[in-house]
Amino acid sequence: MQTLHVDLGERSYPIYIGADLLGQAQLLAPHIVGRQVAVVTNETIAPLYLERLLASLAGYNVVSIVLPDGEAHKNWETLQLIFDGLLGARHDRRTTVIALGGGVIGDMAGFAAACYQRGVNFIQIPTTLLSQVDSSVGGKTGINHPLGKNMVGAFYQPQAVLIDTSSLVTLPPRELSAGLAEVIKYGLICDAQFLDWLETNMPALRSLDQTALTLAIERSCAAKARVVGADEREAGVRATLNLGHTFGHAIETHMGYGVWLHGEAVAAGTVMALEMSCRLGWISQADRDRGIRLFQSAGLPVVPPAEMTPEQFLEHMAVDKKVLDGQLRLVLLRQMGEAVVTADYPREILDATLRTDYRAQVDLLTHQ
Ligand code: NAD
Ligand code: GLY
Repeated sequence: MQTLHVDLGERSYPIYIGADLLGQAQLLAPHIVGRQVAVVTNETIAPLYLERLLASLAGYNVVSIVLPDGEAHKNWETLQLIFDGLLGARHDRRTTVIALGGGVIGDMAGFAAACYQRGVNFIQIPTTLLSQVDSSVGGKTGINHPLGKNMVGAFYQPQAVLIDTSSLVTLPPRELSAGLAEVIKYGLICDAQFLDWLETNMPALRSLDQTALTLAIERSCAAKARVVGADEREAGVRATLNLGHTFGHAIETHMGYGVWLHGEAVAAGTVMALEMSCRLGWISQADRDRGIRLFQSAGLPVVPPAEMTPEQFLEHMAVDKKVLDGQLRLVLLRQMGEAVVTADYPREILDATLRTDYRAQVDLLTHQ
């Protein structure tokens, strides 16, 4: 097992990474304050992993709260079910909320922990690749609003993150690919050598090679811990973790939550950010195409939805959390492995990016 640390002063916490950690009660015990524990999970994950976790929690007074599955349920109604479960079981301020699931469960359980009795203990046990490399670390929690993705929430750090890499064996291939979008993101924004490694090791990752997966998870979590440690509340560098997300969130909101997976929307959105960086003359066409090929090799979409117009993109992007004083800041690449957050770009370059025929571009690449 490897242990990384997120350094945030008194809110610092460990990230445990390894195989079969779910059954290791001694990892959880130091992070549980009282005798009450609320496990928040969903109807897909419960039959797979809940029993194993409950065995590690023997001796505690545990309530299991099993939510409906899916991004479409990341809303107020489902959040209320968590409070119903906590109050129904008379959990007090010393309860510990444990999120057992992907990013949807982690974001909602974390938000519930931030709000319940003004804040209770919280542990993340992420079970998708996406949540293991990104959403479980850093304390962003929340729910979607019909008008905007993740628009209601709180920064609320967990006491610990427990990443059991063995749980990935049951993950559907489409979900594994979605997680790879965020893994590739770290290479693009801050780790050019990791990009080289990913190009070589993508087949191993997709075939669930445990050594390759563990290395990718460790390297991603280390990058995320570094960025969050430097900028917990996203006053600066943390926004680079949103590469491709402004375009991607527009896709998710427009298409209806859950139609495109978050990672899929991030992949197509990042292709748009690569295109814009290329049009600004910051990266070469060869770099842009290299990025596109990497997403393709991960089994991810590299063309935004054909039905979305530039106007629809702009409408959704106007409610992005990186909009400040009405100015849309975008995460772009200065070079491969270096991202910037900027509102300083000619408007016509953004328009041209939104009007680009991505399908034709990819067809050309395929026939090269
Ligand atoms: P998800 O939580 O919907 O999980 C994907 C699917 O896999 C679900 O159907 C789930 O039930 C199933 N599943 C989970 N673990 C499984 C397993 N081990 N075996 C089989 N099936 C399993 O999606 P996700 O990709 O994990 O997370 C996406 C969400 O994360 C989005 O809402 C996004 O906004 C959020 N997110 C948050 C942050 C953050 O910093 N908080 C960062 C990135 C993404
Ligand atoms: N996933 C973006 C962030 O945590 O800041």
